[in-house]
Amino acid sequence: MAIAVIGGTGQQGRGLARRFAAAGERVIVGSRDPDRARAAVAAWGETPQPIEVADNAAAAALGDAIVLAVPFASLDALLDELGPRLKPGSIVIDVTVPVTFVSGKMAMIDVAEGSAAEHVRARLPSAIRMAAAFKTIPASLLDRLDRSLDCDEFVCSDSDEARVRAAAMVELVAGVRAVPIGPLSRARFVEHLTALAIAVNRTHRIHDARFRVVGLP
Ligand SMILES: NC(=O)c1ccc[n+]([C@@H]2O[C@H](COP(=O)([O-])OP(=O)(O)OC[C@H]3O[C@@H](n4cnc5c(N)ncnc54)[C@H](OP(=O)(O)O)[C@@H]3O)[C@@H](O)[C@H]2O)c1
Repeated sequence: MAIAVIGGTGQQGRGLARRFAAAGERVIVGSRDPDRARAAVAAWGETPQPIEVADNAAAAALGDAIVLAVPFASLDALLDELGPRLKPGSIVIDVTVPVTFVSGKMAMIDVAEGSAAEHVRARLPSAIRMAAAFKTIPASLLDRLDRSLDCDEFVCSDSDEARVRAAAMVELVAGVRAVPIGPLSRARFVEHLTALAIAVNRTHRIHDARFRVVGLP
């Protein structure tokens, strides 16, 4: 499987790209500036599979799974560019969370579709399946390849196949259990959980708040 991480040079994308590569997957980091991205990737150190770099459109065209790890505000232009390039049968994994920080104050962006994930769904070709995942995983810990995450991560999708494939990708990250939660519309709850994790981080001056569900069989 080839995994394209769009925004793979960013905080969340870098950790995901490195974790997928550490698990032996083929990873292509997508960037607006492949030269800058190549220099960034070279500084990450060795992985079992060398991480490739391409511009966003080329990365999307190569991916069997395309991970969107970019700011929410950049999605519309990006999806216009990438949508026509996606391979039939590929899946899109939306990682975005619609939060803003104005003068240091966190707020959720009001998304007409109900969630960032549904915003993405509305802008993808209808034949492309998608799921939401990796939204509550903290970037700082994700990027520490020597550490296990020791947490759960929620996965939702309107496609059973995409939910299963996304859950398998979640479990490529050491110490993460995937918790499927049904249809894509439930991403709105997950996105608010991310805001809750940020609030916990700020209140307790930590960086790695994350979630574990108790009571699952
Ligand atoms: N940070 C976290 O702990 C965390 C946790 C869960 C979810 N998320 C979500 O993951 C997403 C990425 O977060 P992040 O913290 O990694 O963000 P980030 O570091 O600010 O940006 C990620 C990457 O997105 C690309 N990008 C930035 N502006 C863009 C634009 N206008 N058009 C296209 N690409 C653009 C950049 O890559 P290039 O310059 O190489 O193109 C950048 O390196 C966000 O939606 C965030 O809510 C983050």
